[in-house]
Amino acid sequence: MVTFPRKRMRRIRREPWIRRLVAEHRLSADDLIWPVFVVDGANRREPIPSMPGVDRLSVDLLTGAVTEARELGIPAIAIFPYTDEKLKTPGAEEAYNPDNLVCRAVRAAKAAVPDVGVICDVALDPFNSDGHDGLVRDGVILNDETVEVLVKQSLVQAEAGCDVIAPSDMMDGRIGAIRDALDAAGRQDVAVLAYAAKFASGFYGPFRDAVGSKGALKGDKATYQMNPANVDEAMWEVALDVDEGADMVMVKPGLPYLDVVRMVKEKFQMPTFVYNVSGEYAMLRGAGDAGWLDYDKVVVETMMSFKRAGADAVLTYAALDVARLLRG
Ligand code: PBG
Repeated sequence: MVTFPRKRMRRIRREPWIRRLVAEHRLSADDLIWPVFVVDGANRREPIPSMPGVDRLSVDLLTGAVTEARELGIPAIAIFPYTDEKLKTPGAEEAYNPDNLVCRAVRAAKAAVPDVGVICDVALDPFNSDGHDGLVRDGVILNDETVEVLVKQSLVQAEAGCDVIAPSDMMDGRIGAIRDALDAAGRQDVAVLAYAAKFASGFYGPFRDAVGSKGALKGDKATYQMNPANVDEAMWEVALDVDEGADMVMVKPGLPYLDVVRMVKEKFQMPTFVYNVSGEYAMLRGAGDAGWLDYDKVVVETMMSFKRAGADAVLTYAALDVARLLRG
């Protein structure tokens, strides 16, 4: 191997032009998905205290925000609802009301910006009075009964015009059941993005504030979300979702699980997305606001870490910030 002084690594770092030529990974707005929180009402913009810079938007304001995202070159948004307490029930019936907040938001976003990709989360936690992603009986999260409800939820979302159904609930067998139901309903073009390896993480805290499920949640999600200690199990989860027909798979959270992103990409060679979750955003934004970190610099560096790990796209609350920074 050639060594110093014949080899000098700094030659390829001397000037911006050569640093650009030797860059191994590139980040662009094409890599970003923007998660947005929606709330009932008109002309409402509610700040989320644990996520500075992120607001819940009423559907009329959503369309302007989506137009802005699209103008910045962001291909897709992911919609999450803040559901009124009165609509939360043990059976989570509001999840499959064809005129629920999510469906109205999808229709409005698609009508205003037809070429934006719309991704909908499938899980019961915004609608369930227990705050869980599944139905609860005697403190147990039911699997197969929940899957039936998730199927109904997916169908109303597809009917509203959603392009990608993204189950985040971690019930067993839901990807296959949803795929079959979409096909049977003539929705074979609707894609499925599986939250395949989703860990039971403390980093979801601010999100639960944002969708208003924190107060409701009884206990934790450890009987369905994965133990942060497990990687073999994550590979099983992904393999099963791929076999059941997932078009894209996702690892969540992002930063503490970059090893899992890398392994999933190498092993399955599938479109692999990563969710840079609410707590990760809050850390960077909070430290930035306090003057402890340069937010602009660390947020772009963080996105690059996902690309380096092998992710094809990143769901991030910082999508607009990043897209603007990339424009210079
Ligand atoms: C719930 C869901 C969660 C997130 C996306 N969908 C939270 C949870 O599982 O408790 C988290 C996203 C984030 O923290 O940004 N099905």
